[in-house]
Amino acid sequence: MSLSSSLALGARELSRLDPQDMLGCVRRMPEVASLAFERGTAWQPPVPSPRQILICGMGGSAISGDLARTLLQGRWSVPISVARQPQLPAWADDRTLCLFLSYSGNTAETLAAFGEATARGIPTAAIASGGQLADRCGQRAIPVLPVESGWQPRAALGHLYFTLLGMLAALGAPVEPAAAISRLAELAVEYAPDRADSDAINLARRLHALPAAPLIAGVSPSTEAVALRWKGQLNENAKTTALFGVFPELTHNEIVNLVASGEERAVVVLRDAEDPPLLVRQIGQTLGLLREERVSDPVEIVASASDPLARQMELVSLGDHVSVYLALLKGLDPTPVAPIVALKARMA
Ligand code: PA5
Repeated sequence: MSLSSSLALGARELSRLDPQDMLGCVRRMPEVASLAFERGTAWQPPVPSPRQILICGMGGSAISGDLARTLLQGRWSVPISVARQPQLPAWADDRTLCLFLSYSGNTAETLAAFGEATARGIPTAAIASGGQLADRCGQRAIPVLPVESGWQPRAALGHLYFTLLGMLAALGAPVEPAAAISRLAELAVEYAPDRADSDAINLARRLHALPAAPLIAGVSPSTEAVALRWKGQLNENAKTTALFGVFPELTHNEIVNLVASGEERAVVVLRDAEDPPLLVRQIGQTLGLLREERVSDPVEIVASASDPLARQMELVSLGDHVSVYLALLKGLDPTPVAPIVALKARMA
């Protein structure tokens, strides 16, 4: 099946391939982001000036924490950490603000960490569409910022991430979402399914053409979380194994197995226009080596908007679209994540 020919069949064919409209969710991100940010800025933090912020969550909810952490690391003096585990670090204390992110509000690890935070008297707030997390916050008068229900957690990034950014802005973080939201709107047009020659569709075709797992490489810290988002979206939407690596660290280990495996694979490097010259040079040398060794003809994508959040969302939008188009190329419905549902049911 060729993606362009199937998409040329129009909306009816698209709704057969993507019956729960994952593509529509990806494309609606700019619409939901603006309201989400406003909702976030309106909250009343339980501590006005936390010494540090700990964001707890899993999977499609936790990634918002990583995006915020990497966006703000060089721009805000309040350290942000992300915990994907049921226990809290020992350093979390009453000057730490714990933010719990769970789209469903029912994720076991997040609920366990929430229980520990309340038992230890750590100032806490949550973002959820409902579930036990919202109930437990309600019982303890802990602020919970509601997000619209009915989405897949990973598809609700516009709700979760921009609510979180609004909350951080209310605490003084330098975040202004307007440029990012208008860039997302432009990209929703550029990557629309009727544009059969867009970068998103062409990249999906490229990933589809090579059987070996693609490597999605970010740069620390600028695009590290974006690369992790790409990996998660390829795993869940396209049901595809993807390797995840980060420059400069990957040049100290993964480069060895990439060359030794002898397998030709797609390598996608996600870069930010403001990455330091040392890393830009190192990436160039690494990609040259991968070409010489015939591992890959790598694709380097450099986000170049003038605003850092806009650059981050440029890359997120491309990856989200690629993951859905790759699912469609494989003839797979991007929405269901049956093994995640089955495991949660077994744990319940
Ligand atoms: O994308 C998904 O569905 C998962 O990665 C979930 O986000 C993860 O299982 C955690 O669930 P929730 O986001 O509802 O806390």
